[in-house]
Amino acid sequence: MKYIIGNWKSNQNITESLIWLDELSALRPSFSSSVSVILCLPFTDIASFNHKIADLGLPIISGSQNVSHLPPGKHTGEITANMLAELVNYCLVGHSERRHEFGETSEIVALKARYLLENSITPIVCLDTPYLDEQVKELFHHDVDVSRCFFVYEPISAIGTGKPVEPTDANHVCTQIAFLTDNSAPVLYGGSVSSDNAASFVRQGRIDGVLVGTDSLEPTLFAGIITSLS
Ligand code: PGA
Repeated sequence: MKYIIGNWKSNQNITESLIWLDELSALRPSFSSSVSVILCLPFTDIASFNHKIADLGLPIISGSQNVSHLPPGKHTGEITANMLAELVNYCLVGHSERRHEFGETSEIVALKARYLLENSITPIVCLDTPYLDEQVKELFHHDVDVSRCFFVYEPISAIGTGKPVEPTDANHVCTQIAFLTDNSAPVLYGGSVSSDNAASFVRQGRIDGVLVGTDSLEPTLFAGIITSLS
């Protein structure tokens, strides 16, 4: 199985997200049973998005972009894994924007991953060099079952810059991540992925899919990526 994961970041209100779905549906991208399409949305969009994908019969699975590192309780404003469990099957953790803008440490990432797994949500753990060892070690330290996670190599130089790394270099790092995680989980690449380059990453051998930011916002571009991997 190959994976395409979209990450809308802090874009699209409910109305915009539903228009996006209508537009994507009208484009009729060639979905394939061997390519799973997951879209990580703002919390506010998820419920109405789920209803609409069911109405349109689109094979898209919704995910979240964040979750609390705390259990349910007195934590005003936090969205816990228990709340998300009724809405999504996947959740991003450890994206470099969260590590850098919000001080998310590898320990917090591990706690988030653990609560997600306790609630049957697959954590999509974002990793970068030169910290792979430390980032993965923290997961083991907190008893996170890495075989139930997804991993994404997200080089910071490639995020939102239009400058992806060479597919062979990405494959090399994904192989390292696979080794560190006991070769037990899908490993993806993210960073300036487009319909022009998505297939060249997935063809490499150790890259199980792509994480797409900018080009997931435009239905035509996202449909192009779906078609290019089908
Ligand atoms: P990008 O973002 O596709 O815009 O580079 C990737 C990401 O941040 O996940």
